[in-house]
Amino acid sequence: MRASSYQFMSKPSSPGATSAPANTTARAGFTSGFGVLAATLGSAVGLGNIWKFPSLTGANGGAGFLLVYLLATLLIGLPLMVAEISIGRQAKANPITALRQLSPGGAPWWLIGAAGMAAAFLILSFYSEVVAWVFAYVAKALSGRLLSSDPASTQAAFSALVADPVQSLLWQWLVLAFIAAILLMGVTKGIEAMTKKLMPLLFLLLLLLCGYSLTLPGTGAALRFLFEPEWHKITPAVVLTAMGLAFFKLSIGMGTMMTYGSYFTPEQNIPATATRVMLADLSVSLLAGMAIFPAVFSFGFAPSAGPSLVFITIPAVFAQMPGGQVLLAAFFILTAIAATGAMLSIMEVPVVILHERWGLRRSHATIATLVILVLLGAGSALSGSTLAQFTPGGRTVFDWADYVSSNLLMPVGGIGLALCVGWAWGREGFARALSNQGQLHNGALAGVLFVLLRWVTPALILVVMLKGLGVF
Ligand code: PHE
Repeated sequence: MRASSYQFMSKPSSPGATSAPANTTARAGFTSGFGVLAATLGSAVGLGNIWKFPSLTGANGGAGFLLVYLLATLLIGLPLMVAEISIGRQAKANPITALRQLSPGGAPWWLIGAAGMAAAFLILSFYSEVVAWVFAYVAKALSGRLLSSDPASTQAAFSALVADPVQSLLWQWLVLAFIAAILLMGVTKGIEAMTKKLMPLLFLLLLLLCGYSLTLPGTGAALRFLFEPEWHKITPAVVLTAMGLAFFKLSIGMGTMMTYGSYFTPEQNIPATATRVMLADLSVSLLAGMAIFPAVFSFGFAPSAGPSLVFITIPAVFAQMPGGQVLLAAFFILTAIAATGAMLSIMEVPVVILHERWGLRRSHATIATLVILVLLGAGSALSGSTLAQFTPGGRTVFDWADYVSSNLLMPVGGIGLALCVGWAWGREGFARALSNQGQLHNGALAGVLFVLLRWVTPALILVVMLKGLGVF
């Protein structure tokens, strides 16, 4: 039987230990259940929770959108997250090696890993610039330079930052160097140790801001904006938007979860962890909405979306509240924390691939990744200034990086991963990996996830992608 030649399936199932491939020496990993959860949640929680989720939910029909998003998360997000983590943990290797092991000599599934690395570079090239603005705003908020209740002046301040090539580049380099510095400390002492500290802090700040915001008079309007179902707004396009969001939110389709999966402990219950991460990520999104919109409505602002909500409306709103400077600093620190965990996970993908496949030392791989990103990121950093007029096909470099990664690379990766598990790995290998080599009795769940991955998930993502590319 051909399947028996898969290294994945021929592993001895000694209890308590997932054996590493023979050619891998002791490989770093996460050391505790809490560490696994903090790092994985750290990847999912990011800029997406702060402005994408709340404003998309509000604008697209509240509870109706939420319901569609939840369905997309269950049918696409969770199965793919479980699939990626299991492939990674089973192989205990970077995405390219992991996928090669899954079908040695067979179809080139490893290309998904290579595409993931390209996606990681592309996402980081623009994500790092948004995070650069966040870091710049932390500094401004702490020094009190952001305090203006006049939206025209907060708008002017934001435009000045974006239009300044030197500031845009310097803040981006600072952000990239900060993330690289954490990665240089390694998987355990860098990623795990950092996210274990940052995630509780994130929840604390979020709950404080939320508690404060919910005492404001605009709470009723905010809750209606977020949760009142407006079914007529649920068009096919909105359904597709919700699916795309689920995809991006949970960091799937580009090897991030596979890489983190390779650091999971052998006894970690993968479906339970993925579910916890999904629920905690959803809570962060909902809490962020409840921290932002009551304040926005209380001071008579329109619920704008995206960067203008975060960098223009919020500073103007908070300036009108007692203790505004502290609140504003807290808000941007919270956003910076969320973005840090996400960036660590995206940057780890090329680092581990360069390290394990190209034989670079981990430190050299990190520096190489940093250098590539400094060069690649300049295009996005300068999209508001030097390169503002360079808009081939109607998009700036920044917008292209965003568009190609989310509408092409991530969905293709997601389809590939689902098909890889559904057709190459097969039910038996997948179920055994999910059961921790027979330790857990979750065969029925594995069966359901397998059917989703083999048929439903790839078909759904294909629809999202074709819509995203404007094919129909
Ligand atoms: N999930 C992150 C967010 O919401 C973004 C991300 C995408 C992280 C892809 C890792 C990989 O901001």
